[in-house]
Amino acid sequence: MTTRIDGKAFAAQVRARVAGEVVALQERHGITPGLAVVLVGEDPASQVYVRNKEKQTVEAGMQSFEHKLSVDTTQDQLLALMDDLNNDGAVNGILVQLPLPSQIDSDAVINALQREKDVDGFHIGNVGRLWTGGEGMVPCTPLGCLMLLQDHLGDLTGKRALVLGRSNIVGKPMAALLLAQHCTVTIAHSRTADLAVRCSEADILVAAVGRPEMVKGDWIKPGATVIDVGINRVESGDGKTRLVGDVNFEAAQGVAGAITPVPGGVGPMTIACLLHNTVEAACRQNGVDRASLS
Ligand code: GUN
Repeated sequence: MTTRIDGKAFAAQVRARVAGEVVALQERHGITPGLAVVLVGEDPASQVYVRNKEKQTVEAGMQSFEHKLSVDTTQDQLLALMDDLNNDGAVNGILVQLPLPSQIDSDAVINALQREKDVDGFHIGNVGRLWTGGEGMVPCTPLGCLMLLQDHLGDLTGKRALVLGRSNIVGKPMAALLLAQHCTVTIAHSRTADLAVRCSEADILVAAVGRPEMVKGDWIKPGATVIDVGINRVESGDGKTRLVGDVNFEAAQGVAGAITPVPGGVGPMTIACLLHNTVEAACRQNGVDRASLS
């Protein structure tokens, strides 16, 4: 029997907890956390993500500040906006939706954020803190994966984890988080030799490679916990499209101990963790002990 890990339900629990913390922050400290979301251009997928972020921010009782800029925005204009948001006391968290148009140096923009407001955890100072065990902001998607893993497995100490994918947004921070939880971590990718064998050794398999159904059933160790970060749109044969992950979900049935579905697995956790990080940022910036809020 393979357990289906319900990320949608777990994300709703995270959002409810965050909403409770926001009420406590308002009532006891007079603070309403604020999240600024910056979107440059009109990429349809990014527009959908940003709309969902704004909606869920407001639903959690926080302030949402939206900045939608034209596709020909210059780097200097964007840096000037970062400066304004860094200096705005009502803004606790800043998220710049990626990818940015090609005339803009994404690293320069992200690193211009005040590190403490970088709720995406992409600032070089937060990346360094993640790898060195310091207190920083943790990227939302890998944080959501870790929450699901800990909820399902409890203590991860000593587990063999394989992260398939080496992006700065998911693969690398995921590996750092699992290492911090005392897993033995392998980072694999599309050019890893004997990839199927490496995957089949893992107690925890996190697939974040962006290739539809790349991970086959016989790549999975019997009983392993599989976290599928992939969101790939493929033709379904009848002129329509459907979403699939990086793992062949059907083939994993009966082999994996547990697996996240696509959609409804990791996806909903990303925004829930963004809200979680925004409350964390607001608490740290105001010297509030978060644990005292719940
Ligand atoms: N684009 C795709 N994923 C992300 C994310 O997690 N954060 C931001 N800012 N942009 C993204």
